[in-house]
Parts: sequence; structure tokens; C-alpha cells
Amino acid sequence: MKRYQVAIIGSGPAGLLLGALLHKAGIDAIILERQSRDYVLARIRAGVLEQGTVGLLHEAGVGARVEREGLVHGGFALNFNGHSLRIDLADLTGGKTVTVYGQTEVTRDLMAHRDQIGATTVYEAKDVSLEDFDGDAPRVSYTKDGQRHQIACDFIAGCDGFHGISRASVPDQALSTFERVYPFGWLGVLADVPPCSHELIYAGHERGFALCSMRSLTRSRYYIQCSLEDRIDNWSDQAFWDELRRRLDPAAAEAVVTGPSIEKSIAPLRSFVAEPLRFGRMFLVGDAAHIVPPTGAKGLNLAASDVHYLSQALIEFYGEHSSAGIDDYSRRALARIWKAERFSWSLTTLLHRFDTMTPFERRMQDAEFAYLQSSRSACASVAENYVGLPF
Ligand code: APR
Ligand code: PHB
Repeated sequence: MKRYQVAIIGSGPAGLLLGALLHKAGIDAIILERQSRDYVLARIRAGVLEQGTVGLLHEAGVGARVEREGLVHGGFALNFNGHSLRIDLADLTGGKTVTVYGQTEVTRDLMAHRDQIGATTVYEAKDVSLEDFDGDAPRVSYTKDGQRHQIACDFIAGCDGFHGISRASVPDQALSTFERVYPFGWLGVLADVPPCSHELIYAGHERGFALCSMRSLTRSRYYIQCSLEDRIDNWSDQAFWDELRRRLDPAAAEAVVTGPSIEKSIAPLRSFVAEPLRFGRMFLVGDAAHIVPPTGAKGLNLAASDVHYLSQALIEFYGEHSSAGIDDYSRRALARIWKAERFSWSLTTLLHRFDTMTPFERRMQDAEFAYLQSSRSACASVAENYVGLPF
């Protein structure tokens, strides 16, 4: 039976970043991924990186391209029923910024790095099963090309996303989960057109939320709130552009350059946290442990801070023969996760149109925005969370 120090399940950004940081510390990890490499790279996800996330990419030795090609943003706009408010991130946080760089590119950089260092990733590893992680000798089995394989390891890192096998392998009674499912989705369009603004615009409107984002100066990413019953086939490109413009302030609407979509998809919105994040010698990391609605772009960044805590803990375990870090992983990670959950939930609640909202709740949205307009402290709170709380 082959043996690795750490078996990582899932080659999304969480698994790949963990693999890179462990490798740097001389810890040997294998990654088992259910899908093919091309499939993983075809997924379009969010695109805003906190400074801490960029720092981790540098630490892992994969920061060169994000440094070169990432767009540094010092602010973003909040639009609310026709009024626009700029959140000056740099000014409100003492110089902090975010970097616009697609998650797909992060994944691509990390995969290329894994090739360079000669680390093992098994793609299309089917029927992964996690065994004996409550004892001292965990094992992981999987099927590749019709053959069953088994590996031995010291630890298992469950980086396999919301629908993965890691969380599902924990007995129900050992796990508490907390969830809010929102009664709408986001319809996203990617198009090779210049963005309508040099900064992101988050817009709350009578007709529903809209977001203007980008991947580069020539590629835009737009979203509009839609019904969960909507189907992408019901949304022609033209219908999408028309609806987007209706929800933006006139200047932004005017500046939208339209073009054929190169990707169009609908994603549901969910808040979810599992507790705890450690089960003997298995850890939950990233989307396997928590989901945030995309308002605020915390998903990938939260996966990155989990990875930071876990990599530190494992490095401490192997370097100093101390289990203090792994004992504390769940508590440390959850403390930051809940704060990001709060921020993503509050921004989602402020900016979306809920069919079930009472007139009182609508007034609360108005008052929240009015408060932001009138208070630097309120804006500073948004900015502090948006650039990412420290880890
Ligand atoms: N066996 C092996 N791999 C699996 C299994 C399984 N049973 N189930 C899922 N996977 C793989 C998925 O195919 C995917 O490639 O695990 C990976 C999980 O990756 P992500 O879903 O990207 O999750 P994570 O790495 O935690 O990334 C954090 O940030 O922007 C957010 O949600 C967004 O994916 C993003 C997340
Ligand atoms: C994106 O560019 O896809 C994006 C940006 C910001 C968000 C969510 C998604 O809050």
C-alpha cells in the first residue's frame, strides 16, 4: 500500500493551495479528484481575491501571474435604487485593496505548479472512500481505470466541496449544520466586452440585485438576481442585457457594452456551516465545510484562510511534534468563517429583493443604505470585511 503524509480529497482551490503549502514545508501530499483536470478548469467561479489570499499564493510560490495580471481595486460601488455610493477600500482600511483575478486562473496556476514540483494528483478518482480516520492509521480508497487502490496516510484533508464525500463520511450525530437557503439565484454571463466601470458595482434595485464584475479589461462578468425556477434557455443574451441595464443607474447602464455570452449559468444562493471541522485525523476545508452566498466574494477567500490554518497546524505537527495546531484548527477556522458568513448574509439581505419581504423589512433596507451614505464608520465596517478580516 502506498503511503503519504496527507491525503487531500478534491483539487479545487482549497486542495491545490493546501498541497502547495505542504509541499513547500516538505510534507508529502497526494490529491484525489473525482473529475478530470479539464472539467475542473472549465468551472467559472468568482474572481475577487483578498490581500491575504494573494499573500498565500505568493507564500505557496504561485504568485507571479496574479501579480502580473491581477487587477488591483481600491474601491467598489454600491448602488441602491438609483443612488450610488463608493466604498473606498484603500482609504477606509488604511491602504488595503482587493485583486480581481478569476478563480479559474488561481486553479490553473496551482495545477501548473503541481506539475512543476512533480506532486501526484489522481484525476478521475472514482468512489473515493475515507476509512479509519477516527484512529491513528487512516486510509483512503478509490477506483481509477476500473482498478481499486488504497493508500495509507497520517491525515485526510476533505477539500471536496459542498457535495463531496468527506463531510458525508462523518456520522450524523457528530456534526451540526447551520443553513439558510435564499429564495432566488444569480444568473451570470461572461462576455468578451470591456467592463462598464473600472470598479465593481453591486446594485440593489426594485427589480432585483445586479452585479457588474470583470475578469480583465476586455472580459466582463455580470450577474442578475433571478428566480430559482428560471432556466438559462429562457434568457436570451438580449433579454439579459436589457434586464441588467434596467437595474443599474443610468450612467452605468449607458456604459454597458453588450456582446455574445461565452458562458451563462444560474447558481442558487446558500449560507451553510458545518461544525466541527475536525474528526480525529480528518479535517473539513473550504466549501466542504461552509458555503457563503457570492455577494461579497468570500467563498474562495474563506477556503484560503482555512488552508492557512490547517497548513500551519500540520507544519507544526511534523516540525515540532506538537498537536496544538490541529487541536485548535476547528475553533480558529470557525471563528473567521462565522464572521464571513455574517458579512455575506448581511450584504445579500441588503441588496436583494425578497418576495416575502414585509414593508417594514423594505424600510430596513432603505435605512441600512441611508446609514451607509451618512456614516464613514458604517462604510469602514463594510470595507474592513470586504478586504478580508485578518487571519
Ligand atoms: N472525490 C474526489 N473529489 C471530489 C469528490 C469526491 N467524492 N467530490 C467532490 N470532489 C472535488 C470536486 O470535483 C472539486 O474539484 O472536490 C473539488 C472541490 O472544489 P471546490 O468546489 O472548488 O471547493 P473548494 O476547493 O473548497 O473551493 C472554494 O470558493 O468561490 C468559492 O465555491 C467556490 O469553489 C469555490 C470555493
Ligand atoms: C465575480 O467576478 O464573479 C464576482 C465578483 C464579486 C462577487 C461575486 C462574484 O461578489
